[in-house]
Amino acid sequence: MSWLNDKTTELLSRVEQAKSLKVYPYFRPMENVGPRIKIGEKSCLNYASNDYLGLSQSRALIDAAIEGTRRYGTGLGSARPQATSIRHEELERRLARWLGYPACAVFTTGYQAIVGTLQTFLDDDTTVVLDKLNHASIMDGMLLAQGQHPDMEVRFFKHNDVAHLDKTLAGASHSKKMVVVEGLYSVDGDLAPLADMMEVVRKHGAVIMLDDAHGLGALGPTGRGVAEMNGLTREVDLLIGTFSKSFGAVGGFVCADASLINYLKLSARSFVFSASLPLAQVEAAMAALDIIESDYSLVHKLQSNGNYFREALLSLGFNIGQSSTHITPIFLNEEELTMKFGAYLYHGANIQMMPFVAPSVPKGKERLRCNVTAAHSHSDMGYTLEALSEIGKMLGVLPSSAKTSSSFMERAYWFLGHEIRGTRNAGLPFLKHEAMELGKKAVEKITGKKSDPA
Ligand SMILES: Cc1ncc(COP(=O)(O)O)c(C=O)c1O
Repeated sequence: MSWLNDKTTELLSRVEQAKSLKVYPYFRPMENVGPRIKIGEKSCLNYASNDYLGLSQSRALIDAAIEGTRRYGTGLGSARPQATSIRHEELERRLARWLGYPACAVFTTGYQAIVGTLQTFLDDDTTVVLDKLNHASIMDGMLLAQGQHPDMEVRFFKHNDVAHLDKTLAGASHSKKMVVVEGLYSVDGDLAPLADMMEVVRKHGAVIMLDDAHGLGALGPTGRGVAEMNGLTREVDLLIGTFSKSFGAVGGFVCADASLINYLKLSARSFVFSASLPLAQVEAAMAALDIIESDYSLVHKLQSNGNYFREALLSLGFNIGQSSTHITPIFLNEEELTMKFGAYLYHGANIQMMPFVAPSVPKGKERLRCNVTAAHSHSDMGYTLEALSEIGKMLGVLPSSAKTSSSFMERAYWFLGHEIRGTRNAGLPFLKHEAMELGKKAVEKITGKKSDPA
């Protein structure tokens, strides 16, 4: 045992305690992926996925990934400077064209795209101005740049506060300034006021990097994200996207002017010193783009599911903060209550919704993070709202008079449908599990000995 083990003690003992109370919600091993997942003997509705259009389960993407692997194998054996395929270049051309930019660089993850871009462009004579609630990847990119350039200035402004952004930019000590924001905030579900921010950015002669990981493929009339919603397509200097949300795959990208992209491809450490995106993912992302570009029906379904669910939560009396999207947090503002609510949903109603507590979110802002997707049916959402309403009342979050607007018949249909789909969806593994349980019980009865719980 060394100090390495000592370091783990406090956190891991909290985890053990949470497990013993059956409220530990992380690393539950799933046997499939989608809006309904099998975990152990449970078949759960899943609201913890960023696969917003449900594309990861689409035949088109799966076939494309298989074909990519068949043609190129499982990996490229090196990083992009030595391992760029014609299909990487085709994907970059198509992403750039889709978003109206001259050029694009595809990275192996969105995280790497962000870290690499910040590390490339920030310098000793730059001020970087960050929204306080920016994603960890933005913070890490800033820290990496700061480690290399100790005179770089870092300033934060209050979340989505344009006046404070203005003031923060005015106080910058360097003339080269970069503002970094997200388009759609992933644990709050609210949107950056991009049009107003853009005015302030330009007024101060700054540049802007927009991480629209959650907005691209999900928001805007044609799925081109928060910039499209604001009529600012192509106006953002550095636009970041990922394949790990609406694209149903893995990978990340940056769109910008050609010279910026060419420079980035030679300078971003996460691009130059990390393995090239495998062709299975390149082809899956290309197939996702085929769908997203030509058929807006999934994007519109996502948006209408989000609107339905949000409005129903509000009319039940839940606090969803500033959410105006398919990410609908349920603010409970207390750690124990949030963990308990998540556990009741999971154990009592077979619903997986992630509790977010400190340090992931500020203390006092604890919430359940609920992601509605285009793959959820009306019946899935109806059942979930009933469960939320009942548990909300049981835990004193909602008044006892709270109820959904659904009829008795709808409720009966939803509950029955949940049970039937749960059993059917679980399929063979579920039946196998049940048979083994029965077998174990029979052995216990005959021998009088308890079998190994594992
Ligand atoms: C806002 C935001 N930016 C960037 C990323 C990183 O994307 P990726 O999963 O492709 O690494 C995430 C992923 O969680 C995210 O939520």
